[in-house]
Amino acid sequence: MHVTTPEELMAAAKVVAANAYAPYSGFRVGAAVLDADGSVTVGCNVENAGYGSTICAERTALVSAVALGRTQPVALAVYTEPGVSPCGSCRQVMVELGPTMQVYLGNAEGRLVSTSIAELLPNSFTESDLE
Ligand code: THU
Repeated sequence: MHVTTPEELMAAAKVVAANAYAPYSGFRVGAAVLDADGSVTVGCNVENAGYGSTICAERTALVSAVALGRTQPVALAVYTEPGVSPCGSCRQVMVELGPTMQVYLGNAEGRLVSTSIAELLPNSFTESDLE
């Protein structure tokens, strides 16, 4: 997949949201990670009857990118119908795997908000805190 704009990355996130496994919440989330190599890795939320074992779309996409050897994420698009902001656990994983990523939040009406990890999770706990 060749992506050149935030809107195209968001379109990929919207497509994968349809694959969400969300029998409990009915809340579908799609995420798409653009890597510096031009690749796009997608993810959706995958729920579990043990609610705490649910995996969010953002983490599914970011972890899949690592597994595929795509280690330079430059942008992450998150699609939901209302256009929500990522949960705290996902923000922490974003800091770890893509601290400089641009983040796009999209909704069903086509609104696209551009933000950053620094804005989403300021003063975060990182690798340097372990030194
Ligand atoms: N969810 C995500 O996939 N990403 C978020 O950032 C927030 C929440 C999912 C988890 C669960 O499947 C559903 O949305 C409701 O919380």
